[in-house]
Formats: sequence, structure tokens, C-alpha cells
Amino acid sequence: SRAIKIAPSILSADFANFGAECRAIEDQGADWVHVDVMDGHFVPNLTFGPAMCAAIRPHIRGVMDVHLMIAPVDPYIEAYAKAGADVITAHLEAGPHIHRTLQAIRNEGKKAGLALNPGTGIDAVAHLLDMVDLICVMTVNPGFGGQKFIHSQVDKVRSLRAMIGDRPIHIEIDGGVTVETAPLVAAAGADVLVAGSAVFKGGSVANPAPYGENIRAI
Ligand code: DX5
Ligand code: ZN
Repeated sequence: SRAIKIAPSILSADFANFGAECRAIEDQGADWVHVDVMDGHFVPNLTFGPAMCAAIRPHIRGVMDVHLMIAPVDPYIEAYAKAGADVITAHLEAGPHIHRTLQAIRNEGKKAGLALNPGTGIDAVAHLLDMVDLICVMTVNPGFGGQKFIHSQVDKVRSLRAMIGDRPIHIEIDGGVTVETAPLVAAAGADVLVAGSAVFKGGSVANPAPYGENIRAI
């Protein structure tokens, strides 16, 4: 069986205390820290940019998993690499030259991730398997935390795992992951589970213990 990693999304964290929140979720057992970058153009929401990523980098001991919900993406890859991202994930739908985008991420010496929106089929990645270290299957429409899991994506995960075979490629699930939905995607072949609202609910920087309880439950 595959070891499952939990990657809490700081989109659901206290926006006035990102550094402390990153330390808290790692202290409470997070495997990765998922950083949701949104530009208000590719998605109808705006979060933070390279400077904020650089600011939290010293507060993250482990993997900083940067999810770029931005278009165009190529002009900003270097900035996120220099900010300290370990994994840089671009959306296939963000532009016409995804192969070039993945090359640019790898040229920065970073792990390359490819995110698929719910409407995008896995045939889109069939010829990119040598260019990715991670495929992020969106199980909500990107832009917000706390949305409902889109169950039709579970079959996509199963087909993707079959396509990947034993290649060293993570399947990351992003959106609506809870104690109820996590088993579905883990059984289908996912190995990294992003969770925002399900991890941060009930806790705070002052009282982070619920973060650990929520992570262990997932
Ligand atoms: C949505 C983001 C997700 C989101 C997950 O656009 O990419 O990472 O923060 O939040 P939950 O786990 O609350 O659905
Ligand atoms: Zn995300």
C-alpha cells in the first residue's frame, strides 16, 4: 500500500499569521505545506505572490508545495523558484505551451507539478509523463476553500494511477478532502492529499492542537 502524505493548504489559515501557521501545521504532523497562489484572472480569487512565499519559506522545514492558479504562468516560475518552492505546480489550462512550462520548472531545479481542472481529461498528460513529478487532480473548481468534493473525479484518479504505473509520479488530490472523501481517493491511487478547511477547522495559532487531530483523522 502507498504511504499517504497530508498537505494542509494555507488558504484556510489565518492570513494575519502565515509564518506561525506553517510552523503549527508542521508541528502538528503535516507532511507538506500547500501554498495556493491565485491571481484573480485564472481563478476568481486573489491570494498572495512570490514575496509572501519567500516570507514563509524560513517557517517551513519540509516541502513547500506551490500551486500556481495563475495565467500566464511562465513569466513567474523563476520568482517562485527563488522564493523557495520545492514543488511548483502549473495548471494545464493556464496556457498553450504546458510542455515548455514544465521544462522551465525543471530548469529551475524544482519538482514539476501539473494540475488538471475537473473538466480536463487525463489524456492531456499521456505525453507529459516524463516531464512531471506530480499530477494534481482538482476535486473542486479552483479558487476557494471549503467547497464540496466533486465525486466524478475519483474514476479519473483510478485511470490516472493505471496510466502512471510504477513511474515516480505523485498523484495529489486538491479540494474537498475530508475524513469522508480521503479514503475514496486513497483507494483510487492518490498519495498526496491537500486539505485546507478540514485541517484548520476548530483550531487557531493560539490553539493549534485541533490541526493535529484533523490531520490524523484524514
Ligand atoms: C482551491 C485550492 C485548494 C483549496 C483546498 O483552489 O487549490 O488547495 O485550498 O481547500 P479545501 O480543502 O477546504 O477544499
Ligand atoms: Zn491548491
